[in-house]
Amino acid sequence: MYDRSIIPMWRTQGHSNSCVRNCFGGSRIERNVTCVMASSLLRTCGLLRSARRTPRFGTTSRIYTKTSAFPRTKGIRRISKVCAGIGIGILTTCGSCLYFLDKSVLAVGEELEVPNYPWSFNGLLASLDHAAVRRGWQVYKTICSTCHSLQYVSYRDLVNVTHTEEEAKALAAEVQVEDGPDDEGNYFKRPGKLSDKIPPPFPNEQASRAANNGAYPADLTYLVNARKNGINYIFSVLTGYMEAPAGIEIREGQSFNAYFPGGSVTMPQMVVDDAVQYDDGVRAYTSQQAKDVVEFLVWTSSIEFDTRKVMMLKGCAICLFLFAIAYHVKRQKWATMKTRKIAYVPKQKY
Ligand code: HEC
Repeated sequence: MYDRSIIPMWRTQGHSNSCVRNCFGGSRIERNVTCVMASSLLRTCGLLRSARRTPRFGTTSRIYTKTSAFPRTKGIRRISKVCAGIGIGILTTCGSCLYFLDKSVLAVGEELEVPNYPWSFNGLLASLDHAAVRRGWQVYKTICSTCHSLQYVSYRDLVNVTHTEEEAKALAAEVQVEDGPDDEGNYFKRPGKLSDKIPPPFPNEQASRAANNGAYPADLTYLVNARKNGINYIFSVLTGYMEAPAGIEIREGQSFNAYFPGGSVTMPQMVVDDAVQYDDGVRAYTSQQAKDVVEFLVWTSSIEFDTRKVMMLKGCAICLFLFAIAYHVKRQKWATMKTRKIAYVPKQKY
């Protein structure tokens, strides 16, 4: 209310000096009352503009002063954008160089590059085909188990995946497992139980090498994970037997396989048409058996395959729900800031 700037105006409007003196003399209340009366009188006559505006403009212009730091922030942002651009450029160049170098090295290898097959379980939401996993177990049991172990899988793992509990118990009871010691301290053989691991064909590595021309048939449980592009590699190895091309010599007891590193493999061609008789009547072509046994090995290498995908779906649903809540709360909290208006009106000169 009390504004010194109106004083010179009073003078120019022809008011007596005594009034001005009155304003500055006397008690504070008296002074204020006199001035308010004078200014409202002048305002009514349209000779004085509202004095109340001055402090409001002052506040507004202070906001503007603060925002004058914007140009600096813009500069920093531009620099960081340029740096990010350069960084991405360098990374892309190095990445593509490494990728093409890797490709060129692959091209000079002796074995063929493994093709990628359209597996039905590859999709984000796709599960394993359990009928195929069961057929795959049959292929393993009938063919592969004579040389390869599957030592990390128990019979109980098969329950509700490939077999019912009774079937799995019956499968386990077919093998003799060493157990003991009994009351007299002796080890003995007993029929297998659900908790037993699938027995290996040879007691140790030396025995299996001795039976296989010195080559070691690897444990198949985690082979899918242990080889590059494991799923397609195993399928390709199983179906990649052919006559050796001219100029390549294959030693006694070895076969030519286009996908096995080095070309010659000690494992003979085991998967041939009708090598097994499927329970469910599917015709056992070579590729069918190879596909089924690979699907079975995918399951052994990640027993949680289906559960993991279900968990992922549940996790996504929960995250989506939490994200929606977080977004709503954020919008609510920021509403005051986002909906305010900052206006700049320059200070009036009197
Ligand atoms: C007669 C024994 C025998 C049988 C039966 C057999 N394999 Fe093999 N397998 C071998 C031997 C030995 C090797 C090692 C070959 C080498 O190192 O030259 C091997 C190697 C492999 C490899 C390549 C492993 C690697 O190190 O890259 C795969 C995959 C494989 N076998 C899968 C199978 C599957 C699946 C079956 C069943 C359909 C099977 N094998 C049946 C003896 C056998």
